[in-house]
Amino acid sequence: MQNALSLHHELSKIFAMRKLSTLFSLLLFLSFNFAFGQKSKSSNPAPPKAAKIVKSTIAKKAAVSTAHPEATKVGLDILKKGGNAVDAAVAIQLALAVVYPRAGNIGGGGFMVLRKSDGSVFTYDYRERAPGMASKDMYIDTLGNPIPKLSVSGHLAAGVPGTIDGLITTHMKHGKLEFKELVQPAIDLAKKGFYLTEKDAAVLNKHMEDMKKYSLGRVAFYKGKKEKWAKKDILVQRELGNTLKRIKDFGRAGFYEGETAQMIVEDMKVGGGIISLEDLASYKTVERAALEFDYKDYHIISMGPPSSGGICLAQILQMVEEHGLDKMKFHSREAVHLMVEAERRAYSDRATHLGDPDFWTIPNFLVNKKYLAHRMKDFNAEESSSSRKMAGGEWNESPETTHLSVVDEEGNAVAVTTTLNSNFGCKVVVNGAGFLLNNEMDDFSVKPGVPNQFGLVGNEANEIKPGKRMLSSMTPTIVTKNGKLFMVLGTPGGATIITSVFQVIVNVVDFKMTLKKAVEAPRFHHQWLPNKLFIEEKGLPEDVIKKLEEMGHEVEVREPIGLMDAIMVRPDGKLEAVGDIRGDDTALGY
Ligand code: DON
Repeated sequence: MQNALSLHHELSKIFAMRKLSTLFSLLLFLSFNFAFGQKSKSSNPAPPKAAKIVKSTIAKKAAVSTAHPEATKVGLDILKKGGNAVDAAVAIQLALAVVYPRAGNIGGGGFMVLRKSDGSVFTYDYRERAPGMASKDMYIDTLGNPIPKLSVSGHLAAGVPGTIDGLITTHMKHGKLEFKELVQPAIDLAKKGFYLTEKDAAVLNKHMEDMKKYSLGRVAFYKGKKEKWAKKDILVQRELGNTLKRIKDFGRAGFYEGETAQMIVEDMKVGGGIISLEDLASYKTVERAALEFDYKDYHIISMGPPSSGGICLAQILQMVEEHGLDKMKFHSREAVHLMVEAERRAYSDRATHLGDPDFWTIPNFLVNKKYLAHRMKDFNAEESSSSRKMAGGEWNESPETTHLSVVDEEGNAVAVTTTLNSNFGCKVVVNGAGFLLNNEMDDFSVKPGVPNQFGLVGNEANEIKPGKRMLSSMTPTIVTKNGKLFMVLGTPGGATIITSVFQVIVNVVDFKMTLKKAVEAPRFHHQWLPNKLFIEEKGLPEDVIKKLEEMGHEVEVREPIGLMDAIMVRPDGKLEAVGDIRGDDTALGY
């Protein structure tokens, strides 16, 4: 009896506890949904109205150009509040992580080129690094073959993110406003949501299934089975908002330590990645010497290795300089042929000589004028050169990165290019943290001579080593003339980044275009291998294409090249800011 009673007692205790725990779970569920749940129209008031897409602006004092109207607006608001160009650039990058998640990021990396109004120049490298457990053959199977997609999609494709460290480092050294103020606009955009543009909706629809597939938890970008995003839909990202709030409250530790770092590492463990707490805690932005050189009366300030951008841009501009582009007609056979032959040679050097300078010695001669004159010795004005006869590899990257340009009232200028590599990076949204991880590991050479996802063949200079940065093409660039600020520019576009920056510079300098015309002008691209001259649709006059083909160029039409966001100081001192017509890019100023 005693036993029966006590059993009954125990059972009722368990039952009562169960009821309690059910009640508790219900409460937890309700409060969780309140705090983190899917957007619900009743609990979430509509966000302020959508920012407008504006393609170009003439401004008296300050200007901003970015890939997304909401991000440009954030940058402009920061400048109007008294922030400087670095403050604006920091706030814009965080906003882009929310409104332009295909490339804007906190889970990726980038480069900043800064020129202050006193003429001082700084460049910051917050490129991703290979995790400590990475190894040369990590994407190779037992037979020595690359394992398809392993360096492209899923957790193992991610490098250790550098963006947040980069933003905090650059802000600490140069910012004026409180860091918290710069994070808040991104938090608002994430928590209150923002209205999708048509292009935002299309790119989400294209990639949301993949993001769902590779992520372990909830994916705010996933609209639902058989559902599609449409223009003016509101995208709310509460988990990302909470991560941004931790960054606002705890700074660097809000990302590289504590809850966010734990979430990343948990995700890695379950998803098969290798980023560790130690990798995150030890990530460091590097301040590097700017890559500077002259082109005619202009002084160019760009990003050095581990970006190939500055070196290749210097090579291309200095190779064409001798040959007088300004005497040639825009998009004439002569001009295009000369530009293409310089591009071919620079990209061949890139594949052979460039890698992370902390791990690989880059020869000084690459930007030496005598070497470049020698490199052009076999240039034949009448005939295409042979890429096959130049040593090296081949690649063709997809166009998903993003660039921003800012000039503030004092005349400080910032150019930032930042990326997750492919659209939405490795497609992994960190469970509970709401942000995407990069797939930058694919920018390494996975195996000498074996092309990566974009057809790139690399070598030892760019092989994988723990802690090493993968080679980049990003080319954030500032141009001065007679010691004064002249232009700020940059673009996404993988391998085409360098040739796009080159072409916009010569469009202004040699072909005397306004910045708007220079950015709008159709672009072409040659990257040594494949031995093809890529052009945009209707990119060159038919008769010029025909002549180029007769000279031995293999011309191929491809999708639009780049999304250039640039600012130029006009002769009257006003700023011309331009957002590329190829995207939602928006330029504003005052
Ligand atoms: O750093 C690089 O060069 C590449 N990860 C950039 C990729 C890119 O630009 C893709 N598209 N825009």
